[in-house]
Amino acid sequence: MAAPDSGHESLLAAGLPDIGTLNRLAGEFFSALPGRQAAGGVPVPVNPQPAGMSPPPGALGPSTLASGPYLPPGGGQVPASPQSPANVAASATSLRPHAQAPNGVPDVVVQAAPGYDSRVGGVTLGVPEAAAQPPRGAGGSPYYFLEERGVGATRLPEPPAAATPAIEAPGARSFGLPDGDVLRALLATHAPAPASAPPSSSHYYFLEAASAPAADSAGHPPFDVNAIRRDFPILRERVNGRPLVWFDNAATTQKPQVVIDRLRQFYERENSNIHRAAHELAARATDAYEGARETVRRFIGAGSTDEIVFVRGTTEAINLVAKSWGAQNVGPGDEIIVSHLEHHANIVPWQQLAAAKGAKLRVIPVDDSGQVLLDEYQKLLNDRTRIVSVTQVSNALGTVVPVREIVAMARRAGACTLVDGAQSVSHMRVDVRGLDADFFVFSGHKIFGPTGIGALYGRKSVLDAMPPWQGGGNMIADVTFEKTIYHGPPSRFEAGTGNIADAVGLGAALEYVERIGIENIGRYEHALLEYATRRMAPIPGVRLVGTAHDKASVLSFVLDGHTTQEVGEALNEEGIAVRTGHHCAQPILRRFGLEATVRPSLAFYNTCEEVDRMVDVVRRLASKRR
Ligand code: ALA
Repeated sequence: MAAPDSGHESLLAAGLPDIGTLNRLAGEFFSALPGRQAAGGVPVPVNPQPAGMSPPPGALGPSTLASGPYLPPGGGQVPASPQSPANVAASATSLRPHAQAPNGVPDVVVQAAPGYDSRVGGVTLGVPEAAAQPPRGAGGSPYYFLEERGVGATRLPEPPAAATPAIEAPGARSFGLPDGDVLRALLATHAPAPASAPPSSSHYYFLEAASAPAADSAGHPPFDVNAIRRDFPILRERVNGRPLVWFDNAATTQKPQVVIDRLRQFYERENSNIHRAAHELAARATDAYEGARETVRRFIGAGSTDEIVFVRGTTEAINLVAKSWGAQNVGPGDEIIVSHLEHHANIVPWQQLAAAKGAKLRVIPVDDSGQVLLDEYQKLLNDRTRIVSVTQVSNALGTVVPVREIVAMARRAGACTLVDGAQSVSHMRVDVRGLDADFFVFSGHKIFGPTGIGALYGRKSVLDAMPPWQGGGNMIADVTFEKTIYHGPPSRFEAGTGNIADAVGLGAALEYVERIGIENIGRYEHALLEYATRRMAPIPGVRLVGTAHDKASVLSFVLDGHTTQEVGEALNEEGIAVRTGHHCAQPILRRFGLEATVRPSLAFYNTCEEVDRMVDVVRRLASKRR
């Protein structure tokens, strides 16, 4: 159970004082030497800004005595991030002289507010550039909220009835997959295991040569989807009298027994708060939590656990970056680039930041297949670009975005980069060092882990320079009424008691994926997506939305003569779960002239037989077109 990098244990083993003692000593040291630079690079306030004093122009929001390494050298007490004059005025209110509290406790100006002030002062935060979007040709970006609804939409050629369509199936070729009958054979669900089948472990996932179809042409072992399926108890559920088909994996994935068991074990044997006590359960819980951080680090290829911040999920991670890094680094006239494919979680926080700071949101357009246009992106990059924040896989279309190129181009322009891995992390290997992005974010529940837990990877040098976004326990080295000394990352960004058990559950989920092998998962899923695409495309009235060559998991479509709601309900009657609606990605659906699609999204526990069941329902509906 001991985490390999438990700082607490290694301090004790080295005969050094424990962390609590170190913190106390640090506090005494700092209070004895106000205004000095502490050892370890933590600057201590010099000339704290007195209450009632306005910050100088260019200061960010509330003054803060809380210091940390993010303060630029010589930056004094006021972070030197850019700020509009409106913000300075707004900040002044919070800097009015304070009354002495009746209890004699000095009332001071420690206001380390992590957010940024509202620049416009209202509740409606718009996209400065897009909100006043002129018609195409009249200047401004021609791409955001395209006016020619539907014009750019792709309608696949109507295939000959009952023939294999002449469309290019997404992405599978790049995985060296066979197609046709060979593919079908490889994807076939094998005979169900006897009820007494032993619990699966990795060696069951790949069939023994005697009973299995041959390996594919690239020599990859066949993938025993039945063994995988036995790991997921919910897949034995029946819905409307039919076996559940879970095709809503882009919304959330199902949980294998090992994750369910790990949560239960945590609450039965380890439950405690972490980092805070000398007792046995605190040590177990701390080891489990920090062990999960190490698993996340390994899974995404980060260099250090200091670069892994636990958050609630992708949305919280992006908000953290916008509110911390963004508040410090984005100012009036600066530009933030996202792509047209983004989930609302990678639009709204940047809109809020842009509105607060007087910055602009710029949008990388996509072609008619739903792939980003790199040459148009190049034109958007300039010396005002502060950050480029893009998804690696579109949740609405499934497009696999060339994030490596996007990051490289941003870095050449001197911009920071964030990659949203919510929809990619369960389908392809993530290597954050190879990717070279400053931030990578994902949610645990999209990769077979619990809800309410996710991770923010941040390059160490970037995290080190960022202020906290929330204040509280766990993230401090020392607190007095005069000042607060923050921990370094990742604790600096984990105020309060975190989601300990679910972090541990996420670790178990990632270890499960590691045992199966993410490349094996990716190969199987791409073959399944290819199979589903070939079966769905020829159905009369079906329009696939998102036909990029590189795709993962998602098969969005609409069906002539039927609302998406009707299609979703008809599928549900047969026990098939898909998401219908805008998928929290309205801009990209509107790019294709749509407000909603039906979105089956696949995982490695899905089968060709399940695809066939969906196809039967859609064909039946299609034959009854109104
Ligand atoms: N982001 C999730 C989805 O795409 C909720 O459905």
